[in-house]
Amino acid sequence: MLKTQVGIIGAGPSGLILARMLAQQGIESVILESQSRAHCEQRARAGVLEHDAANLLDEIGVGERMRREGLVHRGIFLRFDGCDHRIDMAELTGGRTITVYGQHEVIKDLIAAAIADGQALHFDVADVSLNDIDSDAPTIQYRHEGELRVLQCDVIAGCDGFHGVCRPSIPDGAIRSFARSYPFAWLGILSASAPASAELVYARHERGFALQSMRSPEVTRLYIQVPPDDTIDHWSDDQIWSELNTRLAVDGDWSLNRGPIVQRGITPMRSFVADPMQFGRLFLVGDAAHIVPPTGAKGMNLAIADVRVLAAALGAFYTKGDMRPLDTYSATCLRRVWNVQRFSAWMTQLLHRIGDDPFAARVQRAELEYVTSSRAAATALAENYVGLPFGALA
Ligand code: FAD
Ligand code: PHB
Repeated sequence: MLKTQVGIIGAGPSGLILARMLAQQGIESVILESQSRAHCEQRARAGVLEHDAANLLDEIGVGERMRREGLVHRGIFLRFDGCDHRIDMAELTGGRTITVYGQHEVIKDLIAAAIADGQALHFDVADVSLNDIDSDAPTIQYRHEGELRVLQCDVIAGCDGFHGVCRPSIPDGAIRSFARSYPFAWLGILSASAPASAELVYARHERGFALQSMRSPEVTRLYIQVPPDDTIDHWSDDQIWSELNTRLAVDGDWSLNRGPIVQRGITPMRSFVADPMQFGRLFLVGDAAHIVPPTGAKGMNLAIADVRVLAAALGAFYTKGDMRPLDTYSATCLRRVWNVQRFSAWMTQLLHRIGDDPFAARVQRAELEYVTSSRAAATALAENYVGLPFGALA
């Protein structure tokens, strides 16, 4: 039987950042990841870091490449009826910004730092199961390098994403789930071409939502709203570019830079919250506990906010024997989680085509006009988009 203080399941942003914040307080952990290192480092996902999330990566000593290669943005564009409206986030929030830096780059930096520091981190583990999570000596059973192993822990951190094993290990009835699915999905591509707009463009079009983001000055990230059951092989390159050009069209001489499509995929849209985010000695973190639609660019940022709360609570537990911050972990995190659910659902309904109701479409346009003409409304968008300060809600 192997032993550690904190058993961490999953090497996404949640698991890797948690292990690092624990190590910096002298707390030992073991990370178990079902995928290979290469898979984790290549998975295309989020791209936007909130102001405080970027600062946290700096504070824990993994921000150096992000500061060098990441793109700091002070504003975003809302585009509708062929016109651009810039939301000057920095000006509206006293200088707060976002940093565009791919999640897989964050993961590469975290894995390199973990390995350099001798963090126990096992990839390609299989058959992970949890036992005795309501006792003070929970165990994780798993298979690694052909051997069946058992790891005994004081605490287990479920950082294994929405489809992981941790949340389903909690007995029926012990947690309540809140869920909403949306009648659309996002088709996303990476194009090896320069972004046509240096800042993100969120477009509302009668054919549906479109977004122009980027990964670097040479790589554009683009999305379009598609039906929920659509498949990627339905779409030729020409169809994707034609739809993007239509939905992102704007008065004046702006056009997308077409390049080779180097990655493509369809992501379902859903909202989900597990309440509480804890059962016994198992703590759910990040996507294992909640999912937001990507319109507000919040998934990875919310995961980082949870980790910050759990790392501090485990610090209090190990250094002072104080259980209270662990006992209030879920309630503390859920305040931020529900605010981010609110904001992500709001951004989603503001920008997507939802059904054929002409009344709803007029209300949507009125809301866009209000957000882009009222300083108060624009400030509400801006302060949530750059992220409410860590500590303000959790
Ligand atoms: P994850 O990143 O999902 O990490 C969980 C880890 O656990 C994975 O490495 C997984 O392999 C591992 N795991 C799973 N099951 C097991 C098991 N049984 N045993 C061991 N390990 C296991 N957010 C944004 O903010 N903006 C975006 O644009 C955006 N785009 C997205 C696109 C896609 C396709 C997806 C899926 C998500 C996107 N998100 C986006 C959400 C964001 O990527 C997540 O919120 C973020 O990854 C959450 O981090 P996490 O560490 O909690 O979970
Ligand atoms: C991305 O760059 O992948 C991205 C940016 C903003 C979003 C969603 C995704 O709202």
